[in-house]
Formats: sequence, C-alpha cells, structure tokens
Amino acid sequence: MNQTSVWLDVATSHVHSGLECARYRTLALGSWRIVMVAVEQFSGNDTPWEAFNERELARAEGMPVNKRRHEWLAGRYAAKVALRSWQTFDRVDELSAITIENSNRACNKGQPVASIKEAYVSISHSWDVAVAVVSAAPVGVDVEKLRAFSPAAEDMAFTASEKGRDSIISPGGERRWLTLAWCFKEAFMKAHGRGVFGWFHDLELQRIDQEGRLTWKSSPRLHRQLGRAMGLAGYGVAVDGYGVVVVGTPISPLTVGLAGGAR
Ligand SMILES: CC(C)(COP(=O)(O)OP(=O)(O)OC[C@H]1O[C@@H](n2cnc3c(N)ncnc32)[C@H](O)[C@@H]1OP(=O)(O)O)[C@@H](O)C(=O)NCCC(=O)NCCS
Repeated sequence: MNQTSVWLDVATSHVHSGLECARYRTLALGSWRIVMVAVEQFSGNDTPWEAFNERELARAEGMPVNKRRHEWLAGRYAAKVALRSWQTFDRVDELSAITIENSNRACNKGQPVASIKEAYVSISHSWDVAVAVVSAAPVGVDVEKLRAFSPAAEDMAFTASEKGRDSIISPGGERRWLTLAWCFKEAFMKAHGRGVFGWFHDLELQRIDQEGRLTWKSSPRLHRQLGRAMGLAGYGVAVDGYGVVVVGTPISPLTVGLAGGAR
C-alpha cells in the first residue's frame, strides 16, 4: 500500500473556542478510519485537559506510572475524537462528555465500551503513538512499533509459514511482516473482546494485498471458542515505523446506526 495514500488528514491542529486540541492524524484502512495521536502531547503542560471529565482525570491521576498515564490519556483522546463523528460535537471541551469505560464482564474484560450506544470502539498504544477506531459493528485495532523478535518470541507467536514470509529484514532488524502478523492477531482477538495469548498459533496471516487487505486462516479450535462467525475483514499497513491493523465487521454507510445492540 502506498504510504502517502493512507493519511486522510495529516497533523491537523484544530482550534475551537480558543482551546487547542491535540494534533491527530486519520489513517484510512479499508472502510475504517483510524485516529492516531502522539503520546507525548499528553505528557506535559499542553495536555488538552478540557477533553476529559472529572472521573477520567481522577483515574489518570491514580496511575502511578507516567508512561501508562500518558498512553492511557492519548488512547482515550484518540477514541473520543473517533467517537465525535457519532455525535454533533465539535468543541474540544465537549469531548469530555464522551466517556469510555472498560468492560468488567468476564467474557470481554478490559474491552473499551463507549457511552454512545451504537458505537463499538477499540484502542491500542505502542511506544510513542496511540490509535483508536470506531465502528457500528465489532472492531479491533492494534498498533506496534516495527521491531525485531527474539527467537523465543517468534516461536511463541508465529507459525512456520509466517516466519518464512519475513525474509526481508531491514538494516535496523525490524520484521515488518511479523510485526503486522502480530498486530493482526491482536486486532482479531480484540474484535472478539479477548486477548491473544494462548491463541497465537490459531491464527495465521497469509497475505496482505496492495490495498492492505489481509487474508488469513483460523483454526477449528478457535472457531469453537469464539462461537459465532462474524464475517470479518482486516486491513493493515506499515507506516512511520509502526504496523497498524484493523479487523472488524465491514459496515456499509446504509447500515450504520442499525448494528448497535446490547453488549
Ligand atoms: C487486550 C490486550 C490483548 C491488549 O493488548 P496490548 O498489546 O497489551 O495493549 P494495546 O495497547 O494494544 O491495547 C490496550 C487496549 O486494549 C483494550 N482492551 C483491553 N482488554 C480488551 C479486551 N478484552 N477486548 C478488546 N480490547 C481490550 C483497552 O482499551 C486497552 O487500552 P486501555 O487500557 O488504555 O483502555 C491485553 O490487555 C489482554 O490480553 N487482555 C486480556 C483480555 C482477555 O483475555 N480478557 C478475557 C476475555 S474472555
């Protein structure tokens, strides 16, 4: 996929009502729009505090590790910006009215749940960036810095076929295909409200075409575990030193608003 074609909105700084929002970029992957923000914007005096409500600010303040607090704020901000398209808000302080909790249910513990009923949301962070995506149907997103994997990590996470595909290793040692395969597995499982550990070898990334569309196969064991099939599609790209993958149920504009439902 041509990297310049994936950015819809590059480094946009919005000013509303005299309050400056954090900069964000919007990445087009298939029919999904991924909002990406730099975590460093949430580590200092320029943090757009107006975007968060008191409960969120208290939660952030209670996080003892700075890195976790900054990435959490960045992920929440990206999700709020993505969710804004579901409502008519356009002022940064109104972002505080959009809340995102994490599920406490055993079947999808930790999954972000937005205060906007029709919207499914997914969040991911890695090193300097956080991303979020919103859809009217289940969706998962994952971002990972392009990196090398130890032999033990490769054996744990990838099938022989996946390892064989990544024959081109960059001078810095980054494994582009394998990083995208990792992102794919995480995004697929997030779309089901689950973590990937224990399931790495039940998903195999087979192909990424010119448009970034993914082809994969999954094991009968995983099918049995997940129950119903969701008719998923996935897209991925390596951009600016990161792999980004989204997996979800594709939604046509006509069905938006009809696909919500109880979660
Ligand atoms: C979900 C999980 C894979 C996240 O992976 P990660 O690479 O460490 O982190 P990422 O930055 O990519 O993603 C973190 C985000 O994933 C989301 N997330 C957490 N649990 C999730 C779940 N069950 N489903 C979907 N998304 C989830 C959260 O929004 C989290 O960000 P936040 O804490 O800032 O809100 C990991 O937390 C995990 O394995 N959790 C266990 C989930 C699980 O198995 N629950 C039981 C269900 S049966």
